[in-house]
Amino acid sequence: MSSGTHKIRRPSLLPALIAAACFSSTLAGESYDYDADIAPILEPYCVKCHGPDKQKSKFRLDSYERLMRGGSSEEAPIIPFQPMQSPLLEYLLLPKSDEYAMPPEDEDSPSPEEILKIAHWIYYGARSKSAERDSLPLEELLDGNQRAALSKLRSLGAIIHKRGEKAAGIIVDLRQAPSPLPEQALLDLAALAPQVREIRLTGHRLSNSAINLLGAFEHLTHLDLSNGNFEDDAVTALNKLHSLQYLNLFGASISDAGLAKLRVPRSGRLYLGNTRVGPETMARFQQDHPDVEIFGSVDLESTLRITEEADQYSKLKVD
Ligand code: HEC
Repeated sequence: MSSGTHKIRRPSLLPALIAAACFSSTLAGESYDYDADIAPILEPYCVKCHGPDKQKSKFRLDSYERLMRGGSSEEAPIIPFQPMQSPLLEYLLLPKSDEYAMPPEDEDSPSPEEILKIAHWIYYGARSKSAERDSLPLEELLDGNQRAALSKLRSLGAIIHKRGEKAAGIIVDLRQAPSPLPEQALLDLAALAPQVREIRLTGHRLSNSAINLLGAFEHLTHLDLSNGNFEDDAVTALNKLHSLQYLNLFGASISDAGLAKLRVPRSGRLYLGNTRVGPETMARFQQDHPDVEIFGSVDLESTLRITEEADQYSKLKVD
């Protein structure tokens, strides 16, 4: 890829300084890391426009993966080992008057020292120790006890894998494992808790100890308890799961009393279809949790009421 693909001009002095800095003996040998050195620079100057709130040019740089992937120009913003070919650095070096300058005109910019640090980081390969660790095979992310727990769970029929090639979090799918889970399986599962992000327990009968154990999975983002025996009394065990973004209770034995006690997920998706939860309780939960998208089958009575009301206020034909 040539730098001619984006139409920007370079000012004359700083690039020379960067080239000098990259080769200079004072800096050589010392290599920076994304999490420790680079994220703290980008965060205050860039993330408000390229982060969770706004994604200008569809570009987010609030994680290593996103930073390296780039935005709508589909041009990698960083070319490891080549700071002067890296568009991100070029944007940073443009004079403020240039329409492509980053951050734009009236925004605070990183200092020359900070820009040099970014350049130096790119020159030494634009590395992230945590990303490198995350892309290790599953077995290498676990300690001895965890590896033993992993193979025992697999021998029971559990399907366990990493969330993605570059994501250290693991998914535990227990649909093919015996139900209820034997006590030993619960202990093995607990050994993996720090890494587990997703648990699938569709159709399972959960013992009390299994339900209490679920509360220990503090990094859990996805929990599927659909079509199982999960009931109202068990709800409080889930309320510790502050990272939860997906909770599937479709067909579970939960009713209004249970939902009234539920505090998670704080955002994301909640499935309540085919439960005994009524529309009023669902509406109240929705009010208290505006960032949660609720999926629930609307019962016949409330469907009729809504249609009747619609019929009263409009001339729409209802059949
Ligand atoms: C005030 C908002 C704002 C801030 C702060 C900001 N940007 Fe941007 N950024 C934009 C906008 C708007 C665009 C789209 C520009 C265009 O296409 O003309 C953009 C585009 C980009 C792109 C091009 C992405 C692509 O693939 O199209 C890069 C790279 C970029 N910004 C890097 C940065 C960096 C690095 C910082 C912090 C040092 C930063 N930006 C700070 C608003 C901002």
